[in-house]
Amino acid sequence: MSAKTAEFTKEEVEKHNKAGDLWIIVDSKVYDVSRFAAMHPGGLSVLTDEEVAGQDATEAFFSLHRYEVLQRPQYARLQIGVIPGESQVVKPKAIGALSDVPYAEPTWLTSGYHSPYYTDNHRKFQVAIRKFVEEVILPDAQAREEDGKRPSQHVFDEMAKLNIIAMRLGPGKHLQGRQLMGGLVKAEEFDPFHELIMAQEIARCNARGYTDGLGGGTCIGLPPVINFGKPEIRDKVVDDVFSGKKFVCLAISEAFAGSDVAGLKCFAKKSEDGKHWIVNGTKKWITNGAFSDYFTVGCRTEKGMVVLLIERQEGVETKLIKTSYSTAAGTAFITFENVKVPVENTLGPDGKGLHVILSNFNHERCVSCPVEASRLIMILIHFEAGAWRALQSRGKGRLSKSASNG
Ligand SMILES: Cc1cc2nc3c(=O)[nH]c(=O)nc-3n(C[C@H](O)[C@H](O)[C@H](O)COP(=O)(O)OP(=O)(O)OC[C@H]3O[C@@H](n4cnc5c(N)ncnc54)[C@H](O)[C@@H]3O)c2cc1C
Ligand code: HEM
Repeated sequence: MSAKTAEFTKEEVEKHNKAGDLWIIVDSKVYDVSRFAAMHPGGLSVLTDEEVAGQDATEAFFSLHRYEVLQRPQYARLQIGVIPGESQVVKPKAIGALSDVPYAEPTWLTSGYHSPYYTDNHRKFQVAIRKFVEEVILPDAQAREEDGKRPSQHVFDEMAKLNIIAMRLGPGKHLQGRQLMGGLVKAEEFDPFHELIMAQEIARCNARGYTDGLGGGTCIGLPPVINFGKPEIRDKVVDDVFSGKKFVCLAISEAFAGSDVAGLKCFAKKSEDGKHWIVNGTKKWITNGAFSDYFTVGCRTEKGMVVLLIERQEGVETKLIKTSYSTAAGTAFITFENVKVPVENTLGPDGKGLHVILSNFNHERCVSCPVEASRLIMILIHFEAGAWRALQSRGKGRLSKSASNG
């Protein structure tokens, strides 16, 4: 008989009721916490209490801990046996399973509810993303929120295989020819509701810094490259980023200019031969900036404003800064000192930089909203997405990029 299936009567358990010789029963299982008690995060005294020591402490345990505590290997091995004739009542949720608890899931995806916007494909998509998040993302999210490091490379690699990095930009031409979630969704059928489901499922990690670290910069920094970049530059950068090998961020804000984008000071001056921009200035609060390879940068010029794609190189320095969420987001202060940028890396016309920047903000607002506001924003996405679908079904084609993305 293994240690896990050894049988003990309640009377036997009761004899182990003091510090150094301490057993408890939780949901029909017997745990020997004699040595663990001194290290228990909730303290020793709560375990030596006469209502707990040697007793069935199921109710006390579940009032204070989530079930997952008992699934952690270091605690699971405290189990030494079971109580004969009793069976486990609280069962762990299978990875990827949806909850039966009322309102624990978005009602519009719950069986028995109807929504005109969601199809069976959306429901299958939710289950697939849920499973991926719980298997691949969640363990890394918890570890990285703890140590403050950027999301692990293997998570980006796995996301890339299913084209999740690309899908995080929402529907659009960047999905053409890509197999999404192993073929679960056709690129032309991926709509804002799929994107909304993905955002909600990833938000379940409850790790805002980490989930922004997981491609927040791509969501907002890559669209200007896709929409305004020269094809050779665009295709290379898009491949690098969607394959999870390289990272991009959007660098607009400065200590001098936040809401007032037109007030930014970072300056780009043409070299005398006209082949390069020479960039000098700073950027602040740049999500993913600390580990990005590419920077989509708003600059002032003699003609007004311009947006440039700058590669990490000499003269580009990034410094991780602490913000109100974790450093897993890789939020950075950036300095550009005499950085030489080929004119081919110009995104949109010189003098029209503000247009490029503002056209990018609609979708950004939806994807980077804080968790506290996400429900509200999701409702807004619903309206916008509803309008998008209504237009499509009337055969009017897609809205402009900025409107269709959200
Ligand atoms: C988590 C996080 C991540 C970020 N990531 C990025 C990033 O990746 N790239 C990037 O470029 N930037 C990023 N930012 C910066 C962000 O875009 C700026 O914080 C934002 O533009 C606001 O600027 P500010 O903080 O300087 O606030 P301010 O512009 O100083 O505004 C302060 C307050 O004044 C109000 N206000 C400002 N102007 C007016 C006005 N004219 N009328 C009425 N009220 C006004 C604002 O609503 C706000 O309440 C990030 C910020 C955060 C918090
Ligand atoms: C096998 C038995 C137990 C294990 C493995 C265990 C483990 C833990 C862990 C890991 C925490 C940290 C918080 C968390 O991760 O949820 C914790 C907190 C705590 N535990 Fe336990 N525990 C056990 C039994 C009990 C029992 C029987 C009680 C009964 C009173 C108890 C009371 C507490 C309290 C009061 C806290 C602090 C809760 C808080 O911070 O809000 N624990 N325990």
